[in-house]
Amino acid sequence: MGFGRGKVILLGEHAVVHGYPAIAVGIEKGAHAEAVPAERDLLLLDPWDLALAPDPEGGEPLQRAFAAVLRRYDDRPPLEVRVTAELPAGAGLGCSAAIGVAVIDAIDGVLRITRSRAELGEAALVWEEVFHGNPSGIDNAMSAVGGVALFVRGKPLRPIHSRKPLCLVVGFSGESSSTREMVASVQRQLERDPDRVGNTFAAIETLVRNATLAIEGGDLIALGQLLDLNHRLLSSLMLSTTKIEAMCQIARDAGALGAKITGAGGGGCMFALAPDLDTADRIREALGREAFVAEVHA
Ligand code: PMV
Repeated sequence: MGFGRGKVILLGEHAVVHGYPAIAVGIEKGAHAEAVPAERDLLLLDPWDLALAPDPEGGEPLQRAFAAVLRRYDDRPPLEVRVTAELPAGAGLGCSAAIGVAVIDAIDGVLRITRSRAELGEAALVWEEVFHGNPSGIDNAMSAVGGVALFVRGKPLRPIHSRKPLCLVVGFSGESSSTREMVASVQRQLERDPDRVGNTFAAIETLVRNATLAIEGGDLIALGQLLDLNHRLLSSLMLSTTKIEAMCQIARDAGALGAKITGAGGGGCMFALAPDLDTADRIREALGREAFVAEVHA
């Protein structure tokens, strides 16, 4: 069985595409895949009831991503790879990267190829490139490795030792969005107004640096404030929605220390930092049925 986990970006999304640091955590929910030798190559995606042959020119991105992955293996039998996923797609939780990591992990397993989790994450970048055009690589790296980590594009993940467990509550707005489009929208804003957007990225970097210290020092109150500030900067890049704003407010009213968009924005998910598990449960109830609690230790 191959496995790729989902992730929550704590701070730094979007800026990370442009070379600034970001902090992310791996969550337990993810994607599983099983590969078996078969008559022909086939990718079966149970959640969407899809069976796709690899095709580098295919109309369906999954066909192109599967072809890009298979091209990396020489001398192999045809393979059928079956995927199950526990993450909503287009929600900012890294569903596509988790599937890519799980697929490669499963194929490695059946072909008896061993590589480290970090190498597995790097191998899944070809998969992400099909979906996102210009991915920073944070999703595939975190999906393979997990924990709490600082990521800078093109560099290995740097684990962050969190003095206290991080109690996160993740809520899905029900609006899916395209990472490719949201990244392109920020790119357009950067080209039109390089000073404003450049300053925003620099401010996000400061928040990321301070958040690293807050996590290492177990200062959850400071971390919550930094999350709120990062959320405002993402809103200024037009990445929030009315629904996400309302959900962040509900979470804060229910006792969250901070709340923000996670991932590409324009819908998708938000998350809140809770001071403890009881408060996390209250926030989850306030946010509604689809919200879930993720407790991260590192
Ligand atoms: O695809 P998502 O929604 O999990 O977000 C990825 C994070 C971005 O910074 C928006 C894009 C990237 O490649 O880092």
